[in-house]
Amino acid sequence: MDAERSEELKAFDNTKAGVKGLVDAGIEHIPKMFIRPPDELAEERNFQQSHLQVPVIDLEGIHRTDRHEDIVNEIRTASETWGFFQVLNHGIPLSVLDGMIDGIRSFHEQDLETKKEFYSRDRTKQVRFDSNIDLYRSTAANWRDTLTISMLARDHVEHEDLPPICRDAMFEYINHAKNLGGTLLDLLSEALGLEPGHLRGMECDKGRIFVCQYYPSCPQPELTLGVSNHSDPSFLTILLQDQIGGLQVLHENQWVNVQPIAGALVINTGDLLQIISNDKFRSTGHRVVANRVGPRISTACFFSGSLYRSEKPYGPIKELMSEENPPLYREFSIGEFMGQFSSRALGDKSSVEHFK
Ligand code: OGA
Ligand code: NI
Repeated sequence: MDAERSEELKAFDNTKAGVKGLVDAGIEHIPKMFIRPPDELAEERNFQQSHLQVPVIDLEGIHRTDRHEDIVNEIRTASETWGFFQVLNHGIPLSVLDGMIDGIRSFHEQDLETKKEFYSRDRTKQVRFDSNIDLYRSTAANWRDTLTISMLARDHVEHEDLPPICRDAMFEYINHAKNLGGTLLDLLSEALGLEPGHLRGMECDKGRIFVCQYYPSCPQPELTLGVSNHSDPSFLTILLQDQIGGLQVLHENQWVNVQPIAGALVINTGDLLQIISNDKFRSTGHRVVANRVGPRISTACFFSGSLYRSEKPYGPIKELMSEENPPLYREFSIGEFMGQFSSRALGDKSSVEHFK
């Protein structure tokens, strides 16, 4: 990295005000550190905009035998072909979803002096605010700020450790998301042909990380991104987005918009599930485009496995292996996996390649 970029990044980081700070200052041109490399901007013209839609799965009647089997089949097909789907009637009340979105907004829009106290790049902190987790590793910074709640090192967060301005709403959503994650992992286990409790038995429901994203309006959205193309470092991700849109999934070499649907949640199978399913389920690349309209608010809940049992080995599930289906990946610990993820830029080659 050249000295000029390094200085620019440090100066930005030191403001502790994130991208929102730039927008509040009234900038009309985005700073150089956010501008994507010329080859990437040129390549953008080669991508076609698709009119396809990620599958939408209605979880209503999940406990009725007739409907249950259909739901498992829909989840299997979506996880094999897209690695993404939206769910309806997932059991989390609309008021809890709206409360979470409002809570994230209020965190990012609160008094700057109070917000700054949360600003940190120390990953051992359970609750922290920053802008661009990979700021010093990426080639271009992304147009977003993030509040992270990490339950990687222990499986809970105390109510009083959450930011006062949004703690009630967040606490509620966090608990609901845990239950939904369990339900989805049971369905995914069945979709793999395993007993419903198999993935939870492997502790795939542990190690939750909530990233609460705030994408300010951007004066030059064609020059930057909200989040670079990446795949998620998780078994499963539950994403709640507001109605603005901007999330895109790379499907058959085309960018597909994940259309906001009121009350729906976006689910995607991550790198860890691709590995343990031995490539049966896929971890698909996705990104968020920048937008003149904003702020856009979202939260991704990653189920990433527990670090407090970091010696536990993960690799392709033995029950799924056979002579025709030999393991494509080696075994590793969640500690090693997370270490690999945090040593690179978000947009770099996916972790999956590293464990082949
Ligand atoms: C992520 C992510 C998408 C969004 O945080 O990993 O892909 O819509 N977020 O914010
Ligand atoms: Ni993601």
